[in-house]
Amino acid sequence: MKARSARISASHVSDEFLAFTASVHFDRRLWKHDIAGSIAHVHALAHAGVLTKAETGTIVSGLRDIARECSRGAVAFDPRLEDVHMNIEHMLTNRIGDAGAKLHTGRSRNDQVALDMRLMTRESLVNVMTETLALQEVLLRRAKENNGTILPGYTHLQHAQPVLLSHHLLAHFWRLHRDVRRMTDCYARTNVSPLGAGALAGTAFGLDRKIPAELLMMDGVTENSLDSVSDRDFAAEAVFTQSLLMVHLSSLCEELILWSSQEFRFVKLPKDLSSGSSMMPQKRNPDIPELVRGKAGRTIGHLIAILTMLKSLPLAYNRDLQEDKENLFDVFDTVGASLHALTNFLAETEFDKVRMRESAEEGLMTATDLADFLTTRGIPFRTAHGIVQQISERSGGDPHNFKRLAEEALVEHFGEFGPSDLDVLDIGNSISRRNSYGGTAPSSVAVQTREAAAAVAREKKIIARLKNQVEAVDRLVTG
Ligand code: ARG
Repeated sequence: MKARSARISASHVSDEFLAFTASVHFDRRLWKHDIAGSIAHVHALAHAGVLTKAETGTIVSGLRDIARECSRGAVAFDPRLEDVHMNIEHMLTNRIGDAGAKLHTGRSRNDQVALDMRLMTRESLVNVMTETLALQEVLLRRAKENNGTILPGYTHLQHAQPVLLSHHLLAHFWRLHRDVRRMTDCYARTNVSPLGAGALAGTAFGLDRKIPAELLMMDGVTENSLDSVSDRDFAAEAVFTQSLLMVHLSSLCEELILWSSQEFRFVKLPKDLSSGSSMMPQKRNPDIPELVRGKAGRTIGHLIAILTMLKSLPLAYNRDLQEDKENLFDVFDTVGASLHALTNFLAETEFDKVRMRESAEEGLMTATDLADFLTTRGIPFRTAHGIVQQISERSGGDPHNFKRLAEEALVEHFGEFGPSDLDVLDIGNSISRRNSYGGTAPSSVAVQTREAAAAVAREKKIIARLKNQVEAVDRLVTG
Protein backbone atom coordinates (compact mmCIF):
# COMPACT_ATOMS: atom_id res chain seq x y z
CA MET A 1 0.00 0.00 0.00
CA LYS A 2 2.82 2.33 0.95
CA ALA A 3 4.70 1.51 -2.23
CA ARG A 4 1.74 2.37 -4.39
CA SER A 5 0.83 5.65 -2.75
CA ALA A 6 4.49 6.54 -2.68
CA ARG A 7 4.73 5.92 -6.42
CA ILE A 8 1.75 8.21 -7.08
CA SER A 9 2.81 11.10 -4.87
CA ALA A 10 6.45 10.86 -5.94
CA SER A 11 5.58 11.34 -9.60
CA HIS A 12 7.57 14.11 -11.15
CA VAL A 13 4.71 15.73 -12.95
CA SER A 14 4.23 19.43 -12.48
CA ASP A 15 1.00 21.02 -11.31
CA GLU A 16 0.66 22.55 -14.72
CA PHE A 17 0.90 19.13 -16.35
CA LEU A 18 -1.72 17.77 -14.00
CA ALA A 19 -4.03 20.71 -14.52
CA PHE A 20 -3.97 20.05 -18.24
CA THR A 21 -4.17 16.26 -18.23
CA ALA A 22 -6.31 15.35 -15.22
CA SER A 23 -9.84 14.27 -16.00
CA VAL A 24 -11.29 13.42 -12.61
CA HIS A 25 -13.34 16.63 -12.53
CA PHE A 26 -15.47 15.19 -15.33
CA ASP A 27 -14.87 11.43 -15.38
CA ARG A 28 -15.86 11.17 -11.71
CA ARG A 29 -19.35 10.53 -12.94
CA LEU A 30 -18.12 7.11 -14.08
CA TRP A 31 -17.58 6.00 -10.48
CA LYS A 32 -20.41 3.50 -10.43
CA HIS A 33 -19.46 1.91 -13.74
CA ASP A 34 -15.84 1.81 -12.67
CA ILE A 35 -16.63 0.07 -9.40
CA ALA A 36 -18.97 -2.43 -11.05
CA GLY A 37 -16.29 -3.14 -13.67
CA SER A 38 -13.72 -3.69 -10.93
CA ILE A 39 -15.99 -6.05 -9.01
CA ALA A 40 -16.59 -8.02 -12.21
CA HIS A 41 -12.83 -8.12 -12.86
CA VAL A 42 -12.17 -9.34 -9.32
CA HIS A 43 -14.35 -12.37 -10.01
CA ALA A 44 -12.24 -13.25 -13.06
CA LEU A 45 -9.10 -12.91 -10.90
CA ALA A 46 -10.62 -15.14 -8.23
CA HIS A 47 -11.66 -17.73 -10.79
CA ALA A 48 -8.11 -17.82 -12.19
CA GLY A 49 -6.73 -18.30 -8.68
CA VAL A 50 -4.97 -14.92 -8.60
CA LEU A 51 -6.98 -13.84 -5.57
CA THR A 52 -7.95 -15.94 -2.58
CA LYS A 53 -11.54 -16.10 -1.47
CA ALA A 54 -10.73 -13.86 1.47
CA GLU A 55 -8.98 -11.27 -0.70
CA THR A 56 -11.89 -11.31 -3.13
CA GLY A 57 -14.35 -10.66 -0.32
CA THR A 58 -12.24 -7.86 1.13
CA ILE A 59 -11.86 -6.12 -2.22
CA VAL A 60 -15.52 -6.40 -3.11
CA SER A 61 -16.74 -5.06 0.21
CA GLY A 62 -14.11 -2.30 0.12
CA LEU A 63 -15.34 -1.26 -3.33
CA ARG A 64 -18.95 -1.35 -2.17
CA ASP A 65 -18.11 0.88 0.78
CA ILE A 66 -16.57 3.38 -1.60
CA ALA A 67 -19.65 3.14 -3.83
CA ARG A 68 -21.93 3.95 -0.90
CA GLU A 69 -19.86 7.00 -0.09
CA CYS A 70 -19.78 8.10 -3.72
CA SER A 71 -23.55 7.87 -3.94
CA ARG A 72 -23.84 10.10 -0.88
CA GLY A 73 -21.46 12.55 -2.54
CA ALA A 74 -19.13 12.03 0.41
CA VAL A 75 -15.98 11.31 -1.59
CA ALA A 76 -13.32 13.88 -2.34
CA PHE A 77 -11.62 13.01 -5.61
CA ASP A 78 -8.01 14.07 -5.83
CA PRO A 79 -6.93 15.72 -9.10
CA ARG A 80 -3.35 14.64 -8.40
CA LEU A 81 -4.53 11.09 -9.01
CA GLU A 82 -5.58 12.12 -12.50
CA ASP A 83 -8.77 10.23 -13.11
CA VAL A 84 -11.62 8.39 -11.46
CA HIS A 85 -9.95 4.99 -12.00
CA MET A 86 -6.76 5.90 -10.13
CA ASN A 87 -8.75 7.65 -7.42
CA ILE A 88 -10.94 4.66 -6.64
CA GLU A 89 -8.07 2.19 -6.71
CA HIS A 90 -6.05 4.44 -4.44
CA MET A 91 -8.95 4.82 -2.00
CA LEU A 92 -9.36 1.07 -1.93
CA THR A 93 -5.68 0.39 -1.27
CA ASN A 94 -5.64 3.02 1.47
CA ARG A 95 -8.52 1.23 3.14
CA ILE A 96 -7.73 -2.46 2.73
CA GLY A 97 -4.00 -2.51 2.03
CA ASP A 98 -2.31 -5.24 0.01
CA ALA A 99 -5.45 -6.90 -1.30
CA GLY A 100 -6.43 -3.57 -2.87
CA ALA A 101 -3.06 -3.34 -4.57
CA LYS A 102 -3.85 -6.64 -6.34
CA LEU A 103 -7.02 -5.33 -8.00
CA HIS A 104 -5.29 -4.03 -11.08
CA THR A 105 -3.63 -7.39 -11.87
CA GLY A 106 -4.14 -8.31 -15.52
CA ARG A 107 -5.90 -5.05 -16.29
CA SER A 108 -4.93 -1.66 -17.70
CA ARG A 109 -6.66 1.65 -17.44
CA ASN A 110 -7.01 1.34 -21.21
CA ASP A 111 -9.40 -1.60 -21.12
CA GLN A 112 -10.86 -0.30 -17.86
CA VAL A 113 -11.88 3.07 -19.27
CA ALA A 114 -13.17 1.50 -22.49
CA LEU A 115 -15.41 -0.72 -20.37
CA ASP A 116 -16.64 2.15 -18.19
CA MET A 117 -17.52 4.21 -21.24
CA ARG A 118 -19.45 1.33 -22.77
CA LEU A 119 -21.39 0.81 -19.54
CA MET A 120 -22.17 4.50 -19.27
CA THR A 121 -23.21 4.70 -22.93
CA ARG A 122 -25.57 1.74 -22.75
CA GLU A 123 -27.18 3.22 -19.63
CA SER A 124 -27.60 6.63 -21.25
CA LEU A 125 -29.05 5.08 -24.39
CA VAL A 126 -31.68 3.29 -22.33
CA ASN A 127 -32.53 6.50 -20.47
CA VAL A 128 -32.99 8.41 -23.72
CA MET A 129 -35.03 5.59 -25.23
CA THR A 130 -37.34 5.77 -22.23
CA GLU A 131 -37.69 9.56 -22.56
CA THR A 132 -38.24 9.32 -26.31
CA LEU A 133 -41.01 6.83 -25.76
CA ALA A 134 -42.68 9.24 -23.33
CA LEU A 135 -42.70 11.91 -26.03
CA GLN A 136 -44.04 9.39 -28.54
CA GLU A 137 -46.86 8.55 -26.16
CA VAL A 138 -47.79 12.22 -25.89
CA LEU A 139 -47.75 12.53 -29.69
CA LEU A 140 -49.97 9.47 -29.92
CA ARG A 141 -52.37 10.74 -27.28
CA ARG A 142 -52.63 14.15 -28.94
CA ALA A 143 -53.17 12.43 -32.30
CA LYS A 144 -56.08 10.45 -30.84
CA GLU A 145 -57.58 13.50 -29.13
CA ASN A 146 -57.49 15.45 -32.37
CA ASN A 147 -59.03 12.76 -34.47
CA GLY A 148 -60.81 14.55 -37.34
CA THR A 149 -59.02 17.91 -37.08
CA ILE A 150 -57.99 19.15 -40.52
CA LEU A 151 -55.10 21.47 -41.26
CA PRO A 152 -53.22 22.42 -44.40
CA GLY A 153 -50.46 20.05 -45.43
CA TYR A 154 -47.42 21.79 -46.85
CA THR A 155 -44.69 21.26 -49.35
CA HIS A 156 -42.10 24.06 -49.65
CA LEU A 157 -44.07 25.61 -46.78
CA GLN A 158 -46.82 26.38 -49.33
CA HIS A 159 -50.37 25.07 -48.94
CA ALA A 160 -50.36 21.69 -50.70
CA GLN A 161 -53.13 19.25 -49.73
CA PRO A 162 -55.27 19.06 -46.59
CA VAL A 163 -54.26 16.46 -43.99
CA LEU A 164 -55.46 15.33 -40.59
CA LEU A 165 -53.68 16.78 -37.57
CA SER A 166 -53.44 13.25 -36.17
CA HIS A 167 -51.64 12.19 -39.35
CA HIS A 168 -49.26 15.14 -39.00
CA LEU A 169 -48.48 14.36 -35.35
CA LEU A 170 -47.92 10.70 -36.15
CA ALA A 171 -45.37 11.68 -38.80
CA HIS A 172 -43.24 12.93 -35.91
CA PHE A 173 -44.05 9.79 -33.94
CA TRP A 174 -42.54 7.47 -36.59
CA ARG A 175 -39.36 9.50 -36.86
CA LEU A 176 -38.85 9.04 -33.14
CA HIS A 177 -39.73 5.38 -33.45
CA ARG A 178 -36.82 4.92 -35.86
CA ASP A 179 -34.57 6.85 -33.48
CA VAL A 180 -35.41 4.39 -30.73
CA ARG A 181 -34.74 1.46 -33.10
CA ARG A 182 -31.39 3.04 -34.02
CA MET A 183 -30.52 3.37 -30.33
CA THR A 184 -31.33 -0.30 -29.81
CA ASP A 185 -28.99 -1.23 -32.67
CA CYS A 186 -26.28 0.97 -31.25
CA TYR A 187 -26.86 -0.53 -27.80
CA ALA A 188 -26.12 -4.01 -29.19
CA ARG A 189 -22.73 -2.92 -30.56
CA THR A 190 -21.97 -1.02 -27.35
CA ASN A 191 -22.85 -3.83 -24.98
CA VAL A 192 -19.71 -5.97 -25.41
CA SER A 193 -16.87 -6.13 -22.95
CA PRO A 194 -13.37 -4.93 -23.82
CA LEU A 195 -12.05 -6.07 -20.44
CA GLY A 196 -9.11 -8.41 -20.86
CA ALA A 197 -7.64 -6.38 -23.71
CA GLY A 198 -5.18 -5.11 -21.14
CA ALA A 199 -3.10 -2.14 -22.22
CA LEU A 200 -3.26 -3.29 -25.86
CA ALA A 201 -2.05 -6.86 -26.31
CA GLY A 202 -4.44 -8.88 -24.16
CA THR A 203 -4.13 -10.19 -20.66
CA ALA A 204 -2.33 -13.06 -18.97
CA PHE A 205 -3.04 -15.02 -15.77
CA GLY A 206 -5.52 -17.22 -17.61
CA LEU A 207 -8.30 -14.68 -17.03
CA ASP A 208 -11.63 -15.72 -18.52
CA ARG A 209 -13.00 -12.66 -20.27
CA LYS A 210 -16.52 -14.07 -20.26
CA ILE A 211 -16.78 -13.87 -16.48
CA PRO A 212 -16.88 -10.08 -16.14
CA ALA A 213 -18.94 -9.77 -19.32
CA GLU A 214 -21.61 -12.07 -17.93
CA LEU A 215 -21.63 -10.43 -14.51
CA LEU A 216 -22.17 -7.06 -16.17
CA MET A 217 -24.86 -8.60 -18.44
CA MET A 218 -22.97 -7.68 -21.56
CA ASP A 219 -23.81 -9.65 -24.69
CA GLY A 220 -20.25 -10.80 -25.42
CA VAL A 221 -16.61 -9.75 -25.54
CA THR A 222 -14.69 -7.73 -28.14
CA GLU A 223 -12.69 -9.72 -30.67
CA ASN A 224 -9.37 -7.86 -30.82
CA SER A 225 -7.42 -6.32 -27.97
CA LEU A 226 -5.86 -3.51 -30.04
CA ASP A 227 -9.26 -2.52 -31.38
CA SER A 228 -10.88 -2.82 -27.93
CA VAL A 229 -8.80 -0.10 -26.31
CA SER A 230 -8.49 2.26 -29.25
CA ASP A 231 -11.89 2.72 -30.78
CA ARG A 232 -14.77 4.78 -29.53
CA ASP A 233 -17.00 4.02 -32.48
CA PHE A 234 -19.77 3.03 -30.08
CA ALA A 235 -19.62 6.54 -28.61
CA ALA A 236 -19.59 8.18 -32.04
CA GLU A 237 -22.54 6.05 -33.09
CA ALA A 238 -24.41 6.78 -29.89
CA VAL A 239 -23.87 10.51 -30.35
CA PHE A 240 -25.02 10.20 -33.96
CA THR A 241 -28.28 8.60 -32.80
CA GLN A 242 -28.71 11.53 -30.42
CA SER A 243 -27.89 14.07 -33.10
CA LEU A 244 -30.43 12.67 -35.51
CA LEU A 245 -32.99 12.55 -32.72
CA MET A 246 -32.29 16.22 -31.99
CA VAL A 247 -32.60 17.02 -35.70
CA HIS A 248 -36.03 15.38 -35.60
CA LEU A 249 -37.00 17.29 -32.47
CA SER A 250 -35.81 20.51 -34.08
CA SER A 251 -38.28 20.00 -36.96
CA LEU A 252 -41.13 19.44 -34.55
CA CYS A 253 -40.01 22.52 -32.59
CA GLU A 254 -39.74 24.62 -35.72
CA GLU A 255 -43.38 23.82 -36.49
CA LEU A 256 -44.53 24.63 -32.97
CA ILE A 257 -42.70 27.95 -33.24
CA LEU A 258 -44.22 28.76 -36.63
CA TRP A 259 -47.66 27.56 -35.57
CA SER A 260 -47.63 29.81 -32.51
CA SER A 261 -46.90 32.89 -34.63
CA GLN A 262 -49.61 35.46 -35.42
CA GLU A 263 -49.43 34.42 -39.07
CA PHE A 264 -50.44 30.82 -38.33
CA ARG A 265 -52.22 30.90 -34.93
CA PHE A 266 -52.53 27.09 -35.04
CA VAL A 267 -51.39 26.61 -31.43
CA LYS A 268 -51.62 28.47 -28.15
CA LEU A 269 -48.49 28.24 -26.04
CA PRO A 270 -48.90 26.83 -22.52
CA LYS A 271 -48.78 29.78 -20.14
CA ASP A 272 -46.58 28.20 -17.53
CA LEU A 273 -44.13 26.93 -20.13
CA SER A 274 -43.49 30.07 -22.14
CA SER A 275 -42.11 33.46 -21.25
CA GLY A 276 -43.29 37.02 -21.77
CA SER A 277 -41.14 39.85 -22.98
CA SER A 278 -39.42 42.21 -20.57
CA MET A 279 -40.53 45.12 -22.73
CA MET A 280 -43.52 44.11 -24.84
CA PRO A 281 -46.44 43.30 -22.55
CA GLN A 282 -48.51 41.49 -25.20
CA LYS A 283 -45.90 38.85 -25.93
CA ARG A 284 -45.62 35.15 -25.29
CA ASN A 285 -42.56 33.32 -26.58
CA PRO A 286 -42.00 29.67 -27.50
CA ASP A 287 -38.80 29.38 -25.42
CA ILE A 288 -38.76 25.61 -25.01
CA PRO A 289 -39.03 24.69 -28.69
CA GLU A 290 -36.54 27.42 -29.55
CA LEU A 291 -34.01 26.12 -27.05
CA VAL A 292 -34.44 22.52 -28.16
CA ARG A 293 -33.96 23.67 -31.77
CA GLY A 294 -30.82 25.49 -30.69
CA LYS A 295 -29.48 22.57 -28.69
CA ALA A 296 -29.63 20.38 -31.82
CA GLY A 297 -26.66 22.42 -33.02
CA ARG A 298 -24.79 21.80 -29.80
CA THR A 299 -25.33 18.03 -30.11
CA ILE A 300 -24.17 17.93 -33.72
CA GLY A 301 -21.09 19.91 -32.62
CA HIS A 302 -20.21 17.15 -30.16
CA LEU A 303 -20.63 14.53 -32.88
CA ILE A 304 -18.18 16.36 -35.12
CA ALA A 305 -15.77 16.76 -32.16
CA ILE A 306 -15.78 13.01 -31.45
CA LEU A 307 -15.38 12.01 -35.09
CA THR A 308 -12.56 14.48 -35.57
CA MET A 309 -10.86 13.30 -32.38
CA LEU A 310 -10.95 9.70 -33.66
CA LYS A 311 -9.83 10.54 -37.17
CA SER A 312 -6.31 9.26 -38.07
CA LEU A 313 -5.49 7.91 -34.60
CA PRO A 314 -2.88 5.16 -34.89
CA LEU A 315 -3.48 1.96 -32.93
CA ALA A 316 -3.83 1.45 -30.06
CA TYR A 317 -4.68 3.68 -27.06
CA ASN A 318 -3.90 7.38 -27.39
CA ARG A 319 -4.62 10.01 -24.79
CA ASP A 320 -6.74 11.86 -27.32
CA LEU A 321 -9.43 9.34 -26.40
CA GLN A 322 -9.93 11.03 -23.04
CA GLU A 323 -11.67 13.76 -25.05
CA ASP A 324 -14.62 11.44 -25.70
CA LYS A 325 -16.09 12.04 -22.28
CA GLU A 326 -17.22 15.62 -21.94
CA ASN A 327 -18.74 15.47 -25.40
CA LEU A 328 -20.63 12.27 -24.69
CA PHE A 329 -21.81 13.37 -21.24
CA ASP A 330 -23.02 16.72 -22.49
CA VAL A 331 -24.88 15.12 -25.38
CA PHE A 332 -26.85 12.81 -23.11
CA ASP A 333 -27.53 15.59 -20.58
CA THR A 334 -28.71 17.89 -23.35
CA VAL A 335 -30.90 15.34 -25.08
CA GLY A 336 -32.45 14.12 -21.82
CA ALA A 337 -33.34 17.65 -20.74
CA SER A 338 -34.66 18.54 -24.19
CA LEU A 339 -36.92 15.51 -24.39
CA HIS A 340 -38.27 16.11 -20.94
CA ALA A 341 -39.06 19.78 -21.57
CA LEU A 342 -40.58 19.15 -24.97
CA THR A 343 -42.76 16.30 -23.75
CA ASN A 344 -44.32 18.51 -21.08
CA PHE A 345 -44.67 21.36 -23.54
CA LEU A 346 -46.43 19.25 -26.14
CA ALA A 347 -48.70 17.70 -23.55
CA GLU A 348 -50.05 21.15 -22.73
CA THR A 349 -50.01 22.87 -26.11
CA GLU A 350 -53.51 23.82 -27.25
CA PHE A 351 -54.35 23.19 -30.90
CA ASP A 352 -56.75 25.71 -32.46
CA LYS A 353 -58.88 23.36 -34.55
CA VAL A 354 -61.13 26.10 -35.91
CA ARG A 355 -58.22 28.20 -37.08
CA MET A 356 -56.52 25.17 -38.67
CA ARG A 357 -59.65 24.32 -40.61
CA GLU A 358 -60.14 27.94 -41.68
CA SER A 359 -56.63 27.99 -43.02
CA ALA A 360 -57.18 24.71 -44.85
CA GLU A 361 -60.27 26.24 -46.53
CA GLU A 362 -58.45 29.43 -47.48
CA GLY A 363 -56.45 28.21 -50.45
CA LEU A 364 -56.97 25.93 -53.40
CA MET A 365 -55.78 22.78 -51.71
CA THR A 366 -58.28 20.55 -53.49
CA ALA A 367 -57.03 21.48 -56.97
CA THR A 368 -55.44 18.02 -57.28
CA ASP A 369 -58.79 16.46 -56.45
CA LEU A 370 -60.44 18.36 -59.30
CA ALA A 371 -57.74 17.17 -61.71
CA ASP A 372 -58.18 13.61 -60.38
CA PHE A 373 -61.93 13.95 -60.95
CA LEU A 374 -61.41 15.01 -64.58
CA THR A 375 -59.30 11.92 -65.16
CA THR A 376 -62.13 9.72 -63.91
CA ARG A 377 -64.16 11.28 -66.75
CA GLY A 378 -61.60 10.14 -69.34
CA ILE A 379 -59.33 13.19 -69.54
CA PRO A 380 -55.60 12.23 -69.35
CA PHE A 381 -54.06 13.43 -66.10
CA ARG A 382 -51.56 15.80 -67.76
CA THR A 383 -54.38 17.51 -69.70
CA ALA A 384 -56.51 17.68 -66.57
CA HIS A 385 -53.57 19.18 -64.68
CA GLY A 386 -53.27 21.89 -67.37
CA ILE A 387 -56.99 22.71 -67.22
CA VAL A 388 -56.98 23.00 -63.42
CA GLN A 389 -53.79 25.03 -63.47
CA GLN A 390 -55.51 27.60 -65.71
CA ILE A 391 -58.57 27.66 -63.48
CA SER A 392 -56.44 28.18 -60.43
CA GLU A 393 -54.49 31.01 -62.05
CA ARG A 394 -57.68 32.72 -63.19
CA SER A 395 -59.22 32.36 -59.74
CA GLY A 396 -56.54 34.62 -58.26
CA GLY A 397 -56.20 32.12 -55.43
CA ASP A 398 -59.76 32.75 -54.21
CA PRO A 399 -61.59 29.50 -53.32
CA HIS A 400 -65.01 30.92 -54.34
CA ASN A 401 -63.77 31.99 -57.76
CA PHE A 402 -62.09 28.62 -58.06
CA LYS A 403 -65.33 26.81 -57.39
CA ARG A 404 -67.26 28.95 -59.90
CA LEU A 405 -64.63 28.50 -62.61
CA ALA A 406 -64.49 24.77 -61.89
CA GLU A 407 -68.24 24.59 -62.42
CA GLU A 408 -67.90 26.40 -65.76
CA ALA A 409 -65.13 24.03 -66.81
CA LEU A 410 -67.23 21.00 -65.98
CA VAL A 411 -70.09 22.37 -68.10
CA GLU A 412 -67.69 23.15 -70.92
CA HIS A 413 -66.10 19.69 -70.95
CA PHE A 414 -69.01 17.46 -70.08
CA GLY A 415 -72.07 19.55 -70.92
CA GLU A 416 -73.76 18.56 -67.74
CA PHE A 417 -72.64 17.34 -64.36
CA GLY A 418 -74.26 16.29 -61.14
CA PRO A 419 -74.20 18.80 -58.26
CA SER A 420 -72.41 16.17 -56.19
CA ASP A 421 -69.47 16.24 -58.61
CA LEU A 422 -68.26 19.43 -57.00
CA ASP A 423 -67.99 17.58 -53.72
CA VAL A 424 -64.48 16.73 -54.87
CA LEU A 425 -63.57 20.26 -53.82
CA ASP A 426 -64.50 19.57 -50.21
CA ILE A 427 -61.41 19.20 -48.03
CA GLY A 428 -62.94 16.42 -45.95
CA ASN A 429 -63.60 14.42 -49.12
CA SER A 430 -60.11 15.16 -50.32
CA ILE A 431 -58.72 13.61 -47.16
CA SER A 432 -61.02 10.58 -47.25
CA ARG A 433 -59.96 9.75 -50.81
CA ARG A 434 -56.32 9.33 -49.72
CA ASN A 435 -56.96 5.99 -48.14
CA SER A 436 -53.79 4.23 -49.25
CA TYR A 437 -51.80 2.50 -46.51
CA GLY A 438 -49.97 5.31 -44.67
CA GLY A 439 -52.22 7.97 -46.21
CA THR A 440 -54.16 10.70 -44.42
CA ALA A 441 -57.68 9.25 -44.80
CA PRO A 442 -59.37 8.64 -41.42
CA SER A 443 -59.52 4.90 -42.18
CA SER A 444 -55.75 4.79 -42.88
CA VAL A 445 -54.94 6.94 -39.87
CA ALA A 446 -56.98 4.58 -37.69
CA VAL A 447 -54.80 1.68 -38.86
CA GLN A 448 -51.69 3.79 -38.32
CA THR A 449 -52.78 4.74 -34.81
CA ARG A 450 -53.21 1.09 -33.87
CA GLU A 451 -49.78 0.29 -35.27
CA ALA A 452 -48.25 3.16 -33.35
CA ALA A 453 -49.75 1.89 -30.10
CA ALA A 454 -48.45 -1.61 -30.85
CA ALA A 455 -44.98 -0.18 -31.59
CA VAL A 456 -44.94 1.59 -28.22
CA ALA A 457 -45.87 -1.63 -26.43
CA ARG A 458 -43.15 -3.55 -28.31
CA GLU A 459 -40.45 -0.99 -27.57
CA LYS A 460 -41.42 -0.84 -23.90
CA LYS A 461 -40.76 -4.56 -23.60
CA ILE A 462 -37.38 -4.25 -25.30
CA ILE A 463 -36.41 -1.31 -23.13
CA ALA A 464 -37.38 -3.22 -19.98
CA ARG A 465 -35.03 -6.05 -20.99
CA LEU A 466 -32.16 -3.64 -21.68
CA LYS A 467 -32.83 -1.75 -18.47
CA ASN A 468 -32.41 -4.98 -16.55
CA GLN A 469 -28.96 -5.40 -18.15
CA VAL A 470 -28.04 -1.81 -17.30
CA GLU A 471 -29.07 -2.38 -13.70
CA ALA A 472 -26.56 -5.23 -13.42
CA VAL A 473 -24.14 -2.39 -12.62
CA ASP A 474 -26.25 -1.28 -9.66
CA ARG A 475 -26.70 -4.82 -8.46
CA LEU A 476 -22.93 -5.49 -8.54
CA VAL A 477 -22.21 -2.25 -6.76
CA THR A 478 -24.80 -2.62 -4.00
CA GLY A 479 -24.37 -6.37 -3.59
N1 ARG B 1 -8.31 9.03 -18.21
C1 ARG B 1 -7.91 8.20 -19.29
C2 ARG B 1 -8.95 8.26 -20.41
O1 ARG B 1 -9.99 8.69 -20.16
C3 ARG B 1 -7.78 6.80 -18.84
C4 ARG B 1 -6.79 5.97 -19.58
C5 ARG B 1 -5.44 6.44 -19.33
N2 ARG B 1 -4.48 5.58 -19.93
C6 ARG B 1 -3.23 5.94 -20.09
N3 ARG B 1 -2.45 5.10 -20.64
N4 ARG B 1 -2.80 7.13 -19.72
O2 ARG B 1 -8.71 7.90 -21.55
